[in-house]
Amino acid sequence: MPESKSPFRISLDLALTGKGAPPRAAYDAALADCEKALTWLREQHASRSLELLGIATRKDDLKAASAAASAIAKGTKTVAVLGIGGSSLGGQALTALRAGESRSANQKSKATTPFVEFHDNPDPFSWEKSLKGFDPKKTHFVAISKSGGTAETLMQVLSAADRLEKAGVKSLKKHFTIITEPHKSALADFADSIGAPKLDHPLGIGGRYSVLSMVGILPAILMGLDVKALRAGAAAALDEVLNAKSAAEAPAAVGAALHQALASQNKLHTTVLWPYADRLSVFGGWWRQLWAESLGKDGKGSTPVSVLGPVDQHSQLQLFRDGPGNALFTLMTVDTKGKGLTAPKARAKALGLNYLAGRKMGDLVDAEARATAQTLFKNGRCVRQIHLPRVDEFHMGALMMHFMLETIIMGKLMGVDPFDQPGVEEGKILARQYLAEG
Ligand code: PA5
Repeated sequence: MPESKSPFRISLDLALTGKGAPPRAAYDAALADCEKALTWLREQHASRSLELLGIATRKDDLKAASAAASAIAKGTKTVAVLGIGGSSLGGQALTALRAGESRSANQKSKATTPFVEFHDNPDPFSWEKSLKGFDPKKTHFVAISKSGGTAETLMQVLSAADRLEKAGVKSLKKHFTIITEPHKSALADFADSIGAPKLDHPLGIGGRYSVLSMVGILPAILMGLDVKALRAGAAAALDEVLNAKSAAEAPAAVGAALHQALASQNKLHTTVLWPYADRLSVFGGWWRQLWAESLGKDGKGSTPVSVLGPVDQHSQLQLFRDGPGNALFTLMTVDTKGKGLTAPKARAKALGLNYLAGRKMGDLVDAEARATAQTLFKNGRCVRQIHLPRVDEFHMGALMMHFMLETIIMGKLMGVDPFDQPGVEEGKILARQYLAEG
């Protein structure tokens, strides 16, 4: 791809050459198909039909989010964000950007901002433990559910309200904020029944695409993040795609075309996202849902696997190098060279560790990421490399928009609807039925 003003650099040098590369004709055919998907995206953007494409430049909701955050923060030590799937994973990915490290550290310090933590999995034992650990008078619950009818989230809400009441909290409304679609639902009714504030989940944005809306923005403000920069990064990634002269210059189209070219050769059973940065580890969980739920349909799809570098070199690399293959590897690196603590020269040399003498921890990470890319490539694997200067709000927003667009374009190439989730709905309905049956 030619140099561009992209928030990050993408290289296909180890993807389009070597034994793991798809045939050039298959890649070119997929890129040609991307042109149709790009035209569709541009039309959706121009007509404002796809709400997601307007979210990065939306301003009107930021004031409401800031006001809600200020009200929540007053007298609050812990904000517990309740919700599951798309109502939680995006916010969780953003926690990597905050300065504070843990609830206990936050509470021991004189921090004036509350600690924000996410509770998604309704494990009866850990949820009970968490609830018991909260100071009822100083905890605020932000419950998020697009539909307002998800059993896991409602169970959390009901048990949290019960815990507060039993602890003598008189005014529940001061301890709950609800984000849900503006229509009747069990969650909206709960908010009304206690008089708690409600904020709108956009009607036109699906759960797993909602991180840049109120769903991610309110928790982000509570965590002290720069949400304008987050959205600016997303806007930059979107602009690059919308303004690309051809699919070959649109990073999200290039990514989708690479996936599709492999799929057309039956060589895409797995797609592996492999960031070499702790700050992108939770991001992998968000991306995994986005890819799986959007594209696993009609007997089609590929399994997203999210790993972390360098640590997973010591866990997964053997399989990735010598296992069945049929995978695309996306290695993500940030500028680490010359950063971090140093291995003191004298002691390292005395131990015969000349290669580490005077080297920084970031040099090690840089070398390991290069080594993994080459190891995979030399052994016939297809490797895409994404490099960002740093992980901050701007680059996180850009990455999120990039992967959402890549997923949507991939859906178009595969001929599946990237916006529905009938499998998830079926599970929800059955679970409710089993509960009703007792
Ligand atoms: O992305 C999706 O659509 C799902 O994962 C939902 O986010 C998840 O099921 C939670 O749904 P809701 O936000 O309606 O509670």
